[in-house]
Amino acid sequence: MRKEFSDCYDLVVYQIYPRSFMDSNGDGIGDLGGVLSRLDYVKDLGANAIWLCPIFKSPQCDNGYDVSDYRDIDPIYGTMADFDALLAAAHERGIKVIMDFVANHTSSEHEWFQRARLSKNDPYHDYYYWADEPLTDWRSEFGGSAWEFNEPTGEYYLHSFAVGQPDVNWTNPKVREEYAAIVDFWVGKGVDGFRCDVLDHVSKDFKKGLRRNGPHLHEYIREVFGRDHLTNIYTVGEAETTEESILATCGQDRRELKSVFQFSHLMVGRQGKYTPVPHRMDEVKDIVEGWERFTQERDLLYILLTDNHDRPWFISRTGNDRALRYECATNVATAIFLQRGIPFVYEGQEIGCANSHFPDLSAFNDVECLGYYEENKGKIPEATLLEQINFGSRDNTRRPFAWDGTPNHGFTTAAAPWLPYASRADEINLAADLAAERSIYRYYQQLFALRRERVALRRGKSTQLLPESKDCYVYLREHEGERLLVVCNFERAQSLDGLPEGRLLLTNLDRAAGANGAYAPFECAVYDLTK
Ligand code: GLC
Ligand code: CA
Repeated sequence: MRKEFSDCYDLVVYQIYPRSFMDSNGDGIGDLGGVLSRLDYVKDLGANAIWLCPIFKSPQCDNGYDVSDYRDIDPIYGTMADFDALLAAAHERGIKVIMDFVANHTSSEHEWFQRARLSKNDPYHDYYYWADEPLTDWRSEFGGSAWEFNEPTGEYYLHSFAVGQPDVNWTNPKVREEYAAIVDFWVGKGVDGFRCDVLDHVSKDFKKGLRRNGPHLHEYIREVFGRDHLTNIYTVGEAETTEESILATCGQDRRELKSVFQFSHLMVGRQGKYTPVPHRMDEVKDIVEGWERFTQERDLLYILLTDNHDRPWFISRTGNDRALRYECATNVATAIFLQRGIPFVYEGQEIGCANSHFPDLSAFNDVECLGYYEENKGKIPEATLLEQINFGSRDNTRRPFAWDGTPNHGFTTAAAPWLPYASRADEINLAADLAAERSIYRYYQQLFALRRERVALRRGKSTQLLPESKDCYVYLREHEGERLLVVCNFERAQSLDGLPEGRLLLTNLDRAAGANGAYAPFECAVYDLTK
């Protein structure tokens, strides 16, 4: 594997949702000053990179995924000087900074669109998709038609997401130049990477009904990210994840992206976004293991994750987030983050955050779940709808970080935060976790310390053991004579016999060293088998 790829195995990325991480000026909204004040927290966890969800100027109809100026910071988050200070402080601590790159759409308030919508003759008109009649019957991801009428020109424009997020026309070479220049602007400032929002959407084929993964996708990605000066810039894309498309996007000779997210294991435990279904952790294991094998055989990077700002909490869907919350959170972290790939931790995951429950819609903000409500009210009984939204809303993971158990949870000095705290924030907060006999945060610290110390856990080959066994995930990581065994038991107590014996390095319960065999529910352990 080329060095610029293999070096990525040393990353541990901490994803920050800036609105909800830490508020530094008392307006109830997290901001860059808040992130800066918590950099040591991130470093102490063992992360060495942060991915900042969008902080660019934006009317915030999709919490910043509707950008109105790619080269400026939204005033709710601070100023460009605050950003520069954050970047410098991160680099001083050896923390890389990854920005969100939102290129499928702008905000309807972006200057390009403001001009484009006024006249067919404006040079910016061709920066977007227009048609006299909707070209397709596509629905917007957030509900309603994906085509919106525009009075001044008498045309419809495409918005795959909210009405305020018009899709940008990447067939226009000027558009591609603009985005390349935006990347260069941030690289010039010293940022280390980009997380590319719904990047596969930038090429479409209306005739064939392709909303994404269109015929020019790869040449477009290369035009922006394949340039020589970006060789050492880390990139991770949200893109279609068939084996074929991953190879085409992330192959080391492709000059496109370093990695893409695979989300298929995150559908376990639900059907669509809002309906729970029975789950088995074995399903998660099988999917993850399949990608592990595939990426390892093809020398591709794999992303290790269970949570982000677009999904409710993983342990609430696939595990026991009540009596066994500590066990589940630490077990899942061990099973996923010691695998071969790049760990992505989402803020709050490291203290075992779990889903909320609210009695009415006023506690929600997410444009997606509110759109779902609008589309279904009257069709689905009100109480059921509310249950579904509690289960599936993206707000579950977007609630302000609870640093402690005080009324403001150490997040803000404002009377109320922009979005209500999680309904279990009195129970689940950092201070409570650290004070508990068993701390999820401290376990994460040990886990990432081990990953740092043991090269086999970063660069090593991965082999699944006991592939036929149920309700457990057991694998070996090996590198130049170093051999580590990771044993993660899932839901039921069972004996895992026949595993090689080794020296115990880490466990989430009180496992006596060398006591292989019986495992409690969600017990996990890491052994050193090195001779
Ligand atoms: C991605 C983002 C999500 C956003 C959408 C539209 O899926 O992660 O939060 O709503 O793109 O930009
Ligand atoms: Ca603030």
